[in-house]
Amino acid sequence: MFGLNKTTKKFLDLRDKVAIVTGARRGMGRTHAIILAEAGAKVVVSDISLEDCQKVVEEIKKEKGQAIAVKCDVSNKAEVDNLVKETLKAFGKIDILVNNSGICPFKLFLEMQEQEFEKVIDVNLKGYFLMSQACTKEMIKNQANEKGQKGVIVNIGSIAMGQVGSGFAGLTHYCASKGAITAMAEAMSAELAPLGIRVNTIAPGAIDTPMASSISQDSKILESTLARVPLKRIGKPEEISNAVLFLASDESSYMTGSVVVVDGGWTAN
Ligand SMILES: NC(=O)c1ccc[n+]([C@@H]2O[C@H](COP(=O)([O-])OP(=O)(O)OC[C@H]3O[C@@H](n4cnc5c(N)ncnc54)[C@H](O)[C@@H]3O)[C@@H](O)[C@H]2O)c1
Repeated sequence: MFGLNKTTKKFLDLRDKVAIVTGARRGMGRTHAIILAEAGAKVVVSDISLEDCQKVVEEIKKEKGQAIAVKCDVSNKAEVDNLVKETLKAFGKIDILVNNSGICPFKLFLEMQEQEFEKVIDVNLKGYFLMSQACTKEMIKNQANEKGQKGVIVNIGSIAMGQVGSGFAGLTHYCASKGAITAMAEAMSAELAPLGIRVNTIAPGAIDTPMASSISQDSKILESTLARVPLKRIGKPEEISNAVLFLASDESSYMTGSVVVVDGGWTAN
């Protein structure tokens, strides 16, 4: 647990909220789940490995949080529908969806096979679409708060989304998926605002998770990465989760269709 202080808990109070986090068995998905639970949310920890999700649930329960684990491959509609069903069975509603799952296999553009391109788009983009659509159908049944809002979607995009001065060789498919997530979120924010649903995207820079292990494990990659990051370090997963917490809370009530860059200054210089 990350010990949210009393002031943070008072302002970012998620008691009575139900949150689903995808890709939550490890990395920053795990820290999103823990921080949301610390703020009082009932959390559904979801990923492709049920066993790993159960370990995160145990961590949350040890600190008196509430959570369940549900296996879900987000690129599979039947599993997405089952995740929604299990969430409703356990907690009765869905208020917050954190689309966090993702894959990032390195492959040079000229060597990339059609199936390899499709796999990344399926998980990273179609998965966010399926999850968002299935959860929105439930969120719109919620009672609106005093600002007319019923639910929140937080996407984990990336500074690899394009148009921010950072291209990544060997990640054409990944960059395409992250750019599309951002565009999809903008369109969804316009369509879903009248229905009381906000949709925002976080664009992390280099964060210390298993996905980015090559950065911290290879001194040359680390050096070239840090050369671009004014804060001169790789980010911690919980530094992204803090932004997730804010966007998931009512304190961000005037934000929708936004991209929040959390990258140690990478794209600012
Ligand atoms: N680590 C970074 O530097 C970085 C930077 C920018 C964006 N991101 C994004 O952050 C998110 C979390 O990644 P992370 O860095 O914690 O890496 P990670 O590899 O630890 O986490 C990704 C999670 O997604 C899960 N996943 C993979 N395929 C799935 C599927 N089909 N269905 C459901 N879950 C699936 C994995 O099992 C894993 O737990 C991803 O969307 C990633 O693209 C990461």
